Amino acid sequence: MHKVALNFEDGVTRFVQTLPGETVADAAYRSGLNIPMDCRDGACGTCKCHCESGSYEMDGYIDDALSEHEAEQQFVLTCCMIPQADCVVSVPASSEVCVRSQQADVHAEITNINRLSDSTLSFTVAGDQVRAMHFLPGQYVNIQVPGSDQTRAYSFSSMVKQADESVSFLIRVVPNGLMSTHMAEQAQVGDKLTLRGPFGSFYLRDIKRPVLMLAGGTGLAPFLAMLDKIQDDGTEYPIHLIYGVTHEVDLVELKKLEAFAETIEAFTFIACVASPESEWPHKGYVTNHIEAGHVNDGNVDIYLCGPPPMVEAVSQFMEDQNLKPNSFYYEKFAASQ
Ligand SMILES: Cc1cc2nc3c(=O)[nH]c(=O)nc-3n(C[C@H](O)[C@H](O)[C@H](O)COP(=O)(O)OP(=O)(O)OC[C@H]3O[C@@H](n4cnc5c(N)ncnc54)[C@H](O)[C@@H]3O)c2cc1C
Ligand code: FES
Repeated sequence: MHKVALNFEDGVTRFVQTLPGETVADAAYRSGLNIPMDCRDGACGTCKCHCESGSYEMDGYIDDALSEHEAEQQFVLTCCMIPQADCVVSVPASSEVCVRSQQADVHAEITNINRLSDSTLSFTVAGDQVRAMHFLPGQYVNIQVPGSDQTRAYSFSSMVKQADESVSFLIRVVPNGLMSTHMAEQAQVGDKLTLRGPFGSFYLRDIKRPVLMLAGGTGLAPFLAMLDKIQDDGTEYPIHLIYGVTHEVDLVELKKLEAFAETIEAFTFIACVASPESEWPHKGYVTNHIEAGHVNDGNVDIYLCGPPPMVEAVSQFMEDQNLKPNSFYYEKFAASQ
């Protein structure tokens, strides 16, 4: 048995014991702690932490979840990490977020489905249990796919609207995708959904410096929830969002972003389209639109959410530019398989 000290970002340390061959994530789970995770299989990278000391083996994961460079720097996937000695692991989330009692099944009813474009839809769920949900802006839930035993992760794209006890999501319609096709073709207002969560360490921290938000496709969802919160709380620091998509058809919720820009004085945004055929005024990838002012000589908190290749591209860009932000938080919208 090995002792693992889990250092959470709010300064709390919790100790767990791993059994022979047991992963850190499983040992934490036995002790009532949910380290943020999704696939539990070394595929999504959600459970990534940093091992400060100790030795360990990593059992079966893919490069998309943890690059060779990250592994060399002793980043670990706790769902694959089997300690070979006592270890100290830094968890990039607060201890409060990881207490399992915070996570529960919520039964809710679909109250609206809105086809925003050929590629994207939003939907809203409501109910008593939704009103009582506590989550941080940027977190996600696992939604059970109706008629199956599978779940899919979706980020909240709003905070709970107390007026009608509702919360929203933004989904890209993936050809033959189990959940997204269900939502596009079969789901009806009045259907029931089961949500489990909240999960994830990609949430808005206290704003103490300029913030740069980078969204790819429906990776916009968590930022809409964050902006909801910023709209309520206000901020004195500049918040800039660069929202990138592949084709114009994927550009959605621009009116919502314009409304945020009107109500949040510190908020600005730009939307860009990568496809060379597009006539959209801002072309290229999000990295083509990062200006020196946005990164404030490194005194900036960067949040990034999108498909895995985009997260890799931005990480590479930061390395190439020698950009070392005060903090860099990201979420990969990895497919479940
Ligand atoms: C933490 C987290 C949060 C997420 N939040 C959101 C969100 O807010 N909005 C959102 O739209 N998605 C989000 N996702 C992705 C989501 O969980 C599903 O993976 C996605 O909706 C596809 O599910 P599906 O059942 O429709 O397709 P599946 O049945 O899982 O996949 C069908 C086929 O499509 C491929 N595929 C899956 N996803 C994609 C894709 N994006 N592009 C191309 N091919 C794909 C699969 O490899 C498979 O071959 C999130 C993922 C994670 C890990
Ligand atoms: S939960 Fe560990 S890699 Fe997905």
